[in-house]
Amino acid sequence: MSKEDNRRMLLEKALKEYDFQASALLEILHKAQSIYGYLSKDLLMDIAQSLHLPPSTVFGVATFYSFFNLTKPGEHIVTGCLGTACYVKGSEQIMQAIEREFNVKRGGTTADGKLSLFVTRCIGACALSPAIIVDDEVIGKATKEVVIERIKQLLGGSNQ
Ligand code: FES
Repeated sequence: MSKEDNRRMLLEKALKEYDFQASALLEILHKAQSIYGYLSKDLLMDIAQSLHLPPSTVFGVATFYSFFNLTKPGEHIVTGCLGTACYVKGSEQIMQAIEREFNVKRGGTTADGKLSLFVTRCIGACALSPAIIVDDEVIGKATKEVVIERIKQLLGGSNQ
């Protein structure tokens, strides 16, 4: 399974939870933003298709509410799950370690624009807690060492 599939799988799970109901559009957009960090055009098109809604409706809702982010924030996006299962397994400590290591606050982007850090509530992968999403990869049973190493690899790669 590719890394992209990981996020896609979580979105599919959310869509199923809401039974692909168009009336759950807001909740699904929230969930999608939690999983992906922002709502890309492709993602909104996908959601429109899955809910059998006209793309204009989905784009309309996504642009109306200021809490939806439609542009990719940093070059790399890290999202930590602070839902109950992940929290009790130490996701908060991992997030603090990331903040310290990369000098970035949750909700923010590093000064060089390379890394954005977000938090989310349960992404539906509690069996993998604590879960941290690094770009398209869901790192399950995460430790701060593994996550920081992975981020360093990405940041190193993007400098080349
Ligand atoms: S609480 Fe983190 S995946 Fe459920």
